[in-house]
Amino acid sequence: MQTSSGDARDLRLTYSRDELLDSGRYDAPLIANGVRCHGGFDADGAYRSPRTRHRAPAIESWQARVIGEGGALIEIDPARIPPQYPNVEQAKLLLREGVRDPIVRALTIISIVEGFGAVIRDVRVPDLERLVVEPVDGLALAHLGRGLFEAHARDEAGYRDEGGHKQMWEAARDLALERPKIPSDVLMRLMGRRPGTRSRERRFPQIDADLEAMLTTMATVLVVEVFAYDTFAWGMRLLSDPEVSADPEGAGNMVSYIRSDENPHVEYLRTALSELRLRTIRTEDGGTLPGREVVDGLLHRTLHTLTTERPQSQREELRASLAEAMQVARNPADLLERFDALQTHWKPPERTGFEPAADRNAGA
Ligand SMILES: [Fe+2]
Ligand SMILES: [Fe+2]
Repeated sequence: MQTSSGDARDLRLTYSRDELLDSGRYDAPLIANGVRCHGGFDADGAYRSPRTRHRAPAIESWQARVIGEGGALIEIDPARIPPQYPNVEQAKLLLREGVRDPIVRALTIISIVEGFGAVIRDVRVPDLERLVVEPVDGLALAHLGRGLFEAHARDEAGYRDEGGHKQMWEAARDLALERPKIPSDVLMRLMGRRPGTRSRERRFPQIDADLEAMLTTMATVLVVEVFAYDTFAWGMRLLSDPEVSADPEGAGNMVSYIRSDENPHVEYLRTALSELRLRTIRTEDGGTLPGREVVDGLLHRTLHTLTTERPQSQREELRASLAEAMQVARNPADLLERFDALQTHWKPPERTGFEPAADRNAGA
């Protein structure tokens, strides 16, 4: 989504919940795996994401306002995105050797995690009028609990009889790998994952607890969504490769539709957090704290944690069953060696770009 540089006075900044959830009319629905999914196609055959009729221009208006106020939209350094494990070459090697379980497992985990995205609708939105010194009306911030979180939840997990990203990833997997048998312990292992940053101790105990919890979730989800760009690139390269995919076009397209639906998620989250960076938060003891300090502090912590945790948990998840899965190959020991030789070597950059003000000057 591009930031509009139009005249800020013409921009509409207030939307109803119904508007932010409105998809408009499609010429044809998206059917994935026999499941009716969200989104659909216009008369020219182009895919259009769900619930973007008003949400997309709304986000553009809010972004233009941030720029108009002299602010900047939060940017997460793409160099901080950890590579996928297994990478595309490793995944292709496994599939070529008939070792399908790890890839089926990885794709199934992606679909389940997408479904978990529905929890964003349970985030408690505190009274921002009270907690932010400056007025919040007409901001993305004021629309979080009035459609933005709900639209996001529906996109990820589906809504009523319409499938969402969970079902779309399942479809991509099943098209490419011809309805593979799903390892029965995928969900169980996933539940055993280490808890994310949300359960960590409070970073800003002087502000309202619900506000901190909401901002922590938003910072985490923003980083996860930005990291997901790499997952999509991985999915598209792998599943649209005719050498390993039974339906390169259908599976590749499905991932590209999901990717385009993710755009508004990244954009509204970074917009609302950027708005708060320009404002002032009231503390519980009657004082104030610059929004920038809180937002940057949370992003710094999240980026720091996820860039180490995510590659580690992806690796552990795969390695836990890799040796066993490789037993179907002709020469498992040799395959493991070739697999490891293809590994991407990666280290996150030193700085997150959201360092606390004190050491912002100290570093490069
Ligand atoms: Fe998603
Ligand atoms: Fe998303």
